[in-house]
Formats: sequence, structure tokens, C-alpha cells
Amino acid sequence: MASVKQDLDFPAVEIRPMHELDVPMVVAIERSAYQFPWSEGIFRDCLRVGYICRVVEVGSDIAGYGIMSIGAGEAHVLNVCVRDEYRGRGLARKVLLYLIDRARSAGMYEAFLEVRPSNTRAARLYHSLGFEQVGIRRGYYQATNGREDAAVLRRLLSPDAN
Ligand SMILES: CC(C)(COP(=O)(O)OP(=O)(O)OC[C@H]1O[C@@H](n2cnc3c(N)ncnc32)[C@H](O)[C@@H]1OP(=O)(O)O)[C@@H](O)C(=O)NCCC(=O)NCCS
Repeated sequence: MASVKQDLDFPAVEIRPMHELDVPMVVAIERSAYQFPWSEGIFRDCLRVGYICRVVEVGSDIAGYGIMSIGAGEAHVLNVCVRDEYRGRGLARKVLLYLIDRARSAGMYEAFLEVRPSNTRAARLYHSLGFEQVGIRRGYYQATNGREDAAVLRRLLSPDAN
């Protein structure tokens, strides 16, 4: 019998533009995934200003999303999130590879993102995709007991980098 992981492989998985109508579902996923989630307004602003906003669909189900801004040679991955029940099946990796590819095609030469050092799952994923720590933003994130630092990660996007 085919495994669930195989069942989720192409063609059942699709990355497509996020639309206004997707926002309520995206916000529901965001709230279930983060202790300090983005508001609905932030997602609507990302769409309004033309950030690259994508959802990953499994069948007709929104399983996750990725948001990135680009400009002045730099891409900033602002949010990557996968619904709990779809995790560990390579969907976040797929979204990130898609965003990296988009950034490179748009002529960006490097990509940045921030991650909580306590978010080891995400950090491991980013490192496996070639992101390396280039700095720390002190007290960047809201946290239960005050603030938490952010690790700033960068990946070069030269045409020959994977
Ligand atoms: C982080 C997150 C996006 C990963 O999504 P995902 O679809 O499960 O990730 P993938 O299946 O693509 O996994 C890719 C890599 O992530 C890491 N990873 C995934 N699940 C993991 C787990 N249960 N334990 C440890 N590492 C894990 C591994 O490095 C994995 O690589 P591998 O497939 O070679 O083992 C997801 O857990 C999530 O949405 N978390 C909440 C939101 C969040 O923290 N977003 C990132 C903000 S910076």
C-alpha cells in the first residue's frame, strides 16, 4: 500500500497564489501554529502590497503557506507555516524551494529570514536548505516571559547554488 507521504507527492500537492478568500483559513492555521500569530490584517496587507503570498494545497485543502518580500536584490522570507496534520511530509521544504526559485528568477542575489533559536524544527529545515546564521536581533520576538532573540539567516541565490 502506498504511504501517506507518497500520496502527498506531486500531482496532489500544488503551490498557488494566495487569494483574499483564502485569508480566513490561513489565519486559522496561523493561530493554531504560533503562540503569537500574525493578525488577519497583516495577511491582507501582504496581499495588498504585492508580496509573494502562496498557499500549498493538498487536494482542495490548504495545508500551509509561505510569504516573501523581494526588492533591492534581497528576498525576505516572512512566514512559512504548515498545518499540524500535514507536517513532516516535506511541504515546508517544497514551499521554501519554490520561494527561493522565485526570488532567484526575480534577480535577487540573497535571501534572509529570522527564526527563534528555540524553533529547532524550523532552524533545522533552513540549515538543510543552505541558510546560515549571519546575526542576531536582540529581543526581536514577543515571548511568554518578555522577548526572545531572533537568529538572522541568509542564503546566497547565485544561479549555480541549489
Ligand atoms: C517548521 C515547519 C514549517 C516545518 O514544516 P514541515 O512541512 O513539517 O517541514 P518538512 O516536512 O518540509 O520538513 C523539512 C525538514 O524540517 C525538519 N523537520 C520536520 N519535521 C520535524 C520534526 N518533527 N522534528 C525535527 N525536525 C523536523 C527536518 O529537518 C526536515 O528535514 P527532513 O525531511 O530531511 O528530515 C512546521 O513545523 C510549522 O509550520 N511550524 C509552525 C510554524 C513555524 O514555526 N514556522 C517557521 C517560523 S520561522
